[in-house]
Amino acid sequence: MCGIVGYIGEQQAYPVLIKGLHRLEYRGYDSAGVSMITPQGDLHVYKATGKVSALEEKCAPEDTTGTIGIAHTRWATHGEPNTVNAHPHRSESGNLSLVHNGIIENYKTLRAMLEKKGYSFSSETDTEVLVQLIEFTQKNEKCDLFTAVQRALKNVVGAYAIAILEKEHPDRIVCARKGSPLVIGVGTDARGHREFYIGSDATPIIEYTNQVIYLKDEEIALMTRNSDLPEIINLANVHQTPEMHTLQLSLDELEKGGYPHFMLKEIWEQPNALRTCIQGRVHVQAKDVRLSGIVEHREKFLNARRIIICACGTSWHSALIGKYFIEEAAQIPVEVEYASEFRYRNPVIYPDDIVIAVSQSGETADTLAAIQLAEQKGAFLYGICNVIGSSIARATHSGTYIHVGPEIGVASTKAFTGQVVTLCLLGLAIAKEKHTLSDEMFHLLVDELQSIPDKIQWTLEHNQNIDQFAQMFTYCRNFLFLGRGYNYPVALEGALKLKEISYIHAEGYPAAEMKHGPIALVDGEMPCVFIAPKRGMYDKVVSNIQEIKSRKGKIISVVTEGDKTVSDMSDYTFVIPDTRDCFVPLLAVVPLQLLSYYVATAKGRNVDQPRNLAKSVTVE
Ligand code: G6P
Repeated sequence: MCGIVGYIGEQQAYPVLIKGLHRLEYRGYDSAGVSMITPQGDLHVYKATGKVSALEEKCAPEDTTGTIGIAHTRWATHGEPNTVNAHPHRSESGNLSLVHNGIIENYKTLRAMLEKKGYSFSSETDTEVLVQLIEFTQKNEKCDLFTAVQRALKNVVGAYAIAILEKEHPDRIVCARKGSPLVIGVGTDARGHREFYIGSDATPIIEYTNQVIYLKDEEIALMTRNSDLPEIINLANVHQTPEMHTLQLSLDELEKGGYPHFMLKEIWEQPNALRTCIQGRVHVQAKDVRLSGIVEHREKFLNARRIIICACGTSWHSALIGKYFIEEAAQIPVEVEYASEFRYRNPVIYPDDIVIAVSQSGETADTLAAIQLAEQKGAFLYGICNVIGSSIARATHSGTYIHVGPEIGVASTKAFTGQVVTLCLLGLAIAKEKHTLSDEMFHLLVDELQSIPDKIQWTLEHNQNIDQFAQMFTYCRNFLFLGRGYNYPVALEGALKLKEISYIHAEGYPAAEMKHGPIALVDGEMPCVFIAPKRGMYDKVVSNIQEIKSRKGKIISVVTEGDKTVSDMSDYTFVIPDTRDCFVPLLAVVPLQLLSYYVATAKGRNVDQPRNLAKSVTVE
């Protein structure tokens, strides 16, 4: 997930681009770049790793004059976040510069074809392939940039939003999209001149104009200086009439995609985030799961005596679900460790152990130290991170990114479900190699996992009244969350979410264990949240609910759609669609995220930045 900005008009472009990049920084912040054509006709590209401010320090004022430019803030997908891989990328001749958001799936094939034609590459990115392909098409077919982009994109498989500058024609920008968003702002400057803005969303545009065109999939747009509107054509060669929309949102709302908080946005992003996470790893036709880390280190996984997962916070909860799944599917014993405990207790580690670090940020100090210790003891290290090129991703021998995009809200939501999905993919990929699942079961699980994003969407849409219900619980001082089997970690996560952002004390417990202590706390004031899907140990959970009910506890339950028994016993229910036991956590956690969010907002808490907490805990 990257951010794109572009401008062509009569104002100085650089300030517009830099301001736009700052606005889009929430989409990615590992590197940034800008490309401008100066009044002298030179095309310059500046790039820097890190945040946009680092780019500003690098740019020479004389190279950033001019009224046309494009810029980019990156969230790395192909290649480390360094200056070479940062955007904009230039074509071989230096005539074109291009920024891209998305993933070109067939970039290796295209790169090999271009290499045969004599093109060379300086980065590892799919984006550089795209800019070279466009230049190749332009030269080979002797056409203008607009036509070349359209023709080149016919050969591209994947998702893209792109914007391109052409040195020879400093009066035009071409952009295109498929799968990744792109908005064109149509404005008029103080002297009445037409100007065009480009953005990954409207955040870099809204301050200048509220008139926008949302480019549609497979459309290519040409913005020429002084023309009234962009010219738009689609991949099928049909000219399109630009559809103008008036933006209704405020700038603040837009940054959060119309949501009042990043946390709510990230909760709702889960279906799409998980689709991205699964994409390219589950091969639908072959009904196969392939993780490059497992393919490359097949022997290590086949011979692993044990897997140890080290993590902290929410990542520790997802690791626990991963343990249940990997043990069940791949028949390897898995231990889950708090990284902060593991690193200080001289643990026994064998050379044929695999140590997995699970970390959204990839920077958590304890998790990093835990794997460094494991490495000293000869273990093979595997990372499951979200932030590309983060310290843990670099310190491990191999790994899998969860690819859910930047998570800004301190309370982790989409990273949790992304980690669970990735651990399930890992379990399936090992099971496939080890033949520990029948083909039939393997296929069933793969099919079901693929349906999870849609089922999360369903869950989000069918629990929209949680906000009203949450108001009733703002007075509570304690909450109990209870679940069994795969849902015990969900109970832990539900309790953590609530206490993190609402500051209400909450505990998660295995449902049967509550008899050994927590039940003493139960009275008419105490809400008990049960994760009670109509699966697995349903009857046993029903008995546990009875025990609480007879002590007048308030029952809130997460039930399978159509359930009657638990629903009748509960004061309030959240519904989820049916799924296999092992995937229930991915659905059941969603209403619990929403519950915490709405209780916290009803109490007036700062949900995105709760007191005393940090997104990335780089100190122990
Ligand atoms: C902090 C965050 C949590 C996160 C934990 C582990 O406490 O507030 O949301 O779960 O760190 O972070 P990691 O980046 O390693 O997953």
